[in-house]
Amino acid sequence: MTPDRRDELVDVARRAREHARAGQSGFKVGAALLTKDGKIYTGCNVENATYALTVCAERTALLKALSEGEPEDHFAMIAVVAAPDDPTPPCGPCRQLLWEYCHDIPVVMANLTRITKTVSLADLLPLPFDGRLLK
Ligand code: THU
Repeated sequence: MTPDRRDELVDVARRAREHARAGQSGFKVGAALLTKDGKIYTGCNVENATYALTVCAERTALLKALSEGEPEDHFAMIAVVAAPDDPTPPCGPCRQLLWEYCHDIPVVMANLTRITKTVSLADLLPLPFDGRLLK
């Protein structure tokens, strides 16, 4: 993956963040998921008045991609953007779903001006549970 495409992915995630429905937390997140053949699916967090039904930006992007027919393991990288100076890593449920459908992709975290951290999903989810263990 060229650095150029990584920067583009972060920019797309920044724009997706602008669609966040973060009326309860005020914490807006954007995500952009790149497929192995170069397509990008975006997501933002969507909150609601019950709080409990919140969907994170990463899951929005992943579920959009899967529901449009993208196959498992056809993903190359995900970018996640939030405002803080410190990196905003995917939450536990998002790590699980990303692992099961994307496996070990790079996770690029960024804020509104710069990349704050890049880490592989395997490092974020050591000793994962997945379908291989159901056999
Ligand atoms: N959130 C995300 O969308 N992605 C993350 O990586 C961290 C947290 C959302 C969930 C909730 O809407 C808000 O940020 C505050 O937790």
